[in-house]
Amino acid sequence: MELKEKIEKFKIEIQAFTVTNSEELEGFRIKYLGSKNSIKELYAELKTVPNELKKEFGQLINGLKNQTEEKFNTLKETIQSSGSDSKKESIDLTRPAEETTLGSRHPLAVVKNEIIEIFKRIGFVVSEGPEIEDDWHNFSALNFPPEHPARDMQDTFFIEASEDGDRSKEIALRTHTSSVQVRVMENSKPPIRTISPGRVFRNEAISARAHCFFHQVEGLYIDTDVSFADLKQTLLYFAQEMFGEKADIRLRPSYFPFTEPSAEVDVSCTICNKKGCNVCKYTGWLEILGCGMVDPNVLEAANIDSKKYSGFAFGMGVERIAQLKYRVGDLRLYSENDIRFLDQFKSAH
Ligand code: PHE
Repeated sequence: MELKEKIEKFKIEIQAFTVTNSEELEGFRIKYLGSKNSIKELYAELKTVPNELKKEFGQLINGLKNQTEEKFNTLKETIQSSGSDSKKESIDLTRPAEETTLGSRHPLAVVKNEIIEIFKRIGFVVSEGPEIEDDWHNFSALNFPPEHPARDMQDTFFIEASEDGDRSKEIALRTHTSSVQVRVMENSKPPIRTISPGRVFRNEAISARAHCFFHQVEGLYIDTDVSFADLKQTLLYFAQEMFGEKADIRLRPSYFPFTEPSAEVDVSCTICNKKGCNVCKYTGWLEILGCGMVDPNVLEAANIDSKKYSGFAFGMGVERIAQLKYRVGDLRLYSENDIRFLDQFKSAH
């Protein structure tokens, strides 16, 4: 190899050299700067170069030597400043540990799980379904008349609306988890005891009291001889497990297309216990859920014999229950991800 090429090769080699600890640095020093280093060999070869080129080659080798010394110094500095010198590395075992910050469950998850646990204890099983639903499962199978106001664009987020009025083509974000219960009825035989937790969507302006999505837990119980008394007792059990032994419930007549008769359920005010306070607006009661006996049309739509079977259904908003349990009045807080809000639920399970 020509001397010039050799010098060039060394130059590239030295430039590219990296070290990660002091042993490797020492290796570099011995190889290029030690008493028998490879650059010395280049000086020896200088003798073979014709006289008129000696000066030029001498300068090239001197340059290489300087470059090597500079490289050695920079490598040394990087090792010292990064502290990666294995000989110097040490662990201070007496240093106090840094606190690890644990996350906490979202309050809605806490409340949802609590509701699920309460119903599991009396034999309900959890069922889940899609958030994007067809008209049949969200409305038609639930006995909604074709022009029912709840289907209106005001309330429902349509993904595919039909232009020719054919409802069966419509696809929307589910407005309640009753849609899941239609699926359960279609796919299983009574007795059915199920609860369906999940996110639902309604086209509402966002404010402290309304949001475009919220969470529900809906329940369905179908068997022979299921009565309104069974419904009432189940809901009283739920209220007392959720809000304490002293909780009482009352039912007010209401209307839902899928239940007949239907009722709205209030729980006695958890603050004043019926005496009247500003939380219950001096009524002594707080509204918590809707319920009723499953309309025979709904059973028939899912191919369940309505002469043989009867059932009850109920549905509640998780945000509402959480509001009563934790006194969080503004619905928007649940989806703002403000760590100062979420941190307050650390002790909840
Ligand atoms: N699906 C109703 C709603 O979303 C709640 C409900 C469920 C009412 C079951 C009665 C029976 O408001």
